[in-house]
Amino acid sequence: MSNSTFYVTTPIYYVNDKPHIGHAYTTVLADVLARYHRAAGDDVWFLTGTDEHGQKVQKAAEKNGMTPLEQCDSTVVRFQELWKRLGITNDDFIRTTEERHKKIVRAILQDLYDRDLIYKAEYKGYYCVACERFFTEKDLVDGKLCPDCQREVDTIVESNYFFRMSKYQDWLIQYITEHSDFIQPAFRANETLGFLRKPLEDLCISRPKSRLSWGIELPFDADYVCYVWFDALINYISAIGYGVDRARFERYWTSCMHLIGKDILTTHSVYWPTMLHAIGLPMPKTIFAHGWWLTGSRKMSKSLGNVVNPMDMADKYGVDAFRYFLLAAMTPGNDASFTEEDFLQRFNTDLANDLGNLLSRVVKLSIKNFGGKLPAPPPLQPLEMELVSKAGLAVKQLECELNAMRLDRGIGAVMNVVREANKFLERTAPWTLAKEGKTERLAAVLFAASQTLEIVSALLFPIMPEKMTLLRRSLGLSEEEITKVDFASLREYAAGSPTRTMVDLPPLFPRIVVEKPEEDAPAKPEKQKKQEVKAPKARDTVVPEGMVTIEQFFKTQLRTAKVLEAERIEGKTRLLHLKVDLGNGDVRSLVAGIAQQYAPEDVVGKTIIVVANLMPAKIAGFESCGMLLAAKSETSLKLVTVDGGGCEPGLTVG
Ligand code: MSP
Repeated sequence: MSNSTFYVTTPIYYVNDKPHIGHAYTTVLADVLARYHRAAGDDVWFLTGTDEHGQKVQKAAEKNGMTPLEQCDSTVVRFQELWKRLGITNDDFIRTTEERHKKIVRAILQDLYDRDLIYKAEYKGYYCVACERFFTEKDLVDGKLCPDCQREVDTIVESNYFFRMSKYQDWLIQYITEHSDFIQPAFRANETLGFLRKPLEDLCISRPKSRLSWGIELPFDADYVCYVWFDALINYISAIGYGVDRARFERYWTSCMHLIGKDILTTHSVYWPTMLHAIGLPMPKTIFAHGWWLTGSRKMSKSLGNVVNPMDMADKYGVDAFRYFLLAAMTPGNDASFTEEDFLQRFNTDLANDLGNLLSRVVKLSIKNFGGKLPAPPPLQPLEMELVSKAGLAVKQLECELNAMRLDRGIGAVMNVVREANKFLERTAPWTLAKEGKTERLAAVLFAASQTLEIVSALLFPIMPEKMTLLRRSLGLSEEEITKVDFASLREYAAGSPTRTMVDLPPLFPRIVVEKPEEDAPAKPEKQKKQEVKAPKARDTVVPEGMVTIEQFFKTQLRTAKVLEAERIEGKTRLLHLKVDLGNGDVRSLVAGIAQQYAPEDVVGKTIIVVANLMPAKIAGFESCGMLLAAKSETSLKLVTVDGGGCEPGLTVG
């Protein structure tokens, strides 16, 4: 990332909707990008807001005996409160009912009308009230259903105003073709080009007041209001001063990145660019369409009752853990599955086990042996240097993945360093160094581990600002240093300050345990109980003995993995210590009982199958995060490998 301008937007959400995980995802993603860009020294503007006109609001207002604006005022707070709760740092919040927006919409309409880019004609079409969109006959499913939400559409014949969108078809095709970064991911650009293979029609941009009065009145015909999408898209420019504050508008506009969901691709990649071109404005830099959150493998919908409420998640598990999950579990662009089980699994593995434990080990050992104040940088040995340089490498990896909008991979690279640091502690065993009185080496080991934590916490700061503040406070950083997380200084990271004193704080991410029925649960020591948080009770399923349900089977995540390194373990004839790549930057340490059948060089390069969600364990002094599959009898053992071996790591097996 270079020092430049970065303007990021979310869709403006329908004010009547209840915020769900999809809204939360886009807004958290925008927030995290904004925070990273601010950390990189960029001039950032982050906009979100609400889409307040249209039939749904009008109907809800009628039902509730309010004016439409009162209806909007009563529901907009749901979004504003959620963004506050989720730590969203938007610079502006635009409501399309604000005068600053309406006035620009009117000016644009008048200008296009004056230039004959808007004209009146008879319209016949099909309208979906839920999606607030018109469709042609060929778009409909079974001749009567909305292609997006499958609800029955209304047939409409009336006079309306049209924007000459068809005029820009060739220009748009050429623009998209020549600007490969404009619509991302690339397959969404192809999807748009596919859409543009059919003749582009003019866009109906008005609604007669007799049918819908809640909208911005057309400046050239008081019997009509503006179509809600035409009005809504203009928010992206009205909010930054288009037509009012030229300097501010020009400062931000061309750096703009629109974050949207895949279902509103056409409105953003066809309607919006043609509108902008007609107005005479340059294009935004990027339109990035992310995928959908599914519940398990099903679409989230009110009727299925499986919509995830972000406020509930934040209340139950904490804001930062929720933010982390959203970003770590979705590859931007693709769909992702949300289940509470996956959430708990990732929480316990990444946050409680890996990151939480690393911090607690480093801080406790430093306090016990040095009163929390590590001596000025002691001579580092190759292992320590290797760890610190791996942390430095993660800075570059994260930057690179961020630029490519692969935030999940960037997080994966950072969490790998956390795992490396835990492994480093296993290898160097500072607790033994302490017992043996090897103070200088002990200081060097703790120094390297705390440096790593400092870098990692800076890198994760935009994602988990509250928890990383605590972590950095625990490392002894001053309040000023805690929030200073600029990439430039991290890239040239040099030793920290010996004036710091570490402090032990309550666990950052106490493990969450799913409560078992009383009789199954062994009594736990009081101390452990205090550090755990209870999750909702797991429902018991009655299945015949020896059988598993499909849900139980799929709890086991089987993934392809490539063996990167293998070594024998001293004194353990059966065991090999492996380093395996599970794709997406997830490189793990794994201990396997295959040393009598396979030499290390026989397994390196093989693509094997690993149980990816097995609780990590320590075997023969090494972390073992997963289990490989092998077919065995009393006399033989054969690794389960993937046919041909050439497939990529991280694929789901099942
Ligand atoms: N008001 C329009 C946007 C106008 S922008 C000029 C709108 N609003 S919305 O509230 O219905 O949707 C907002 C966003 O939520 C869309 O980007 C949509 O893709 C996203 N999502 C809705 N359900 C979703 C999931 N289940 N998962 C991820 N995002 C999803 O459309």
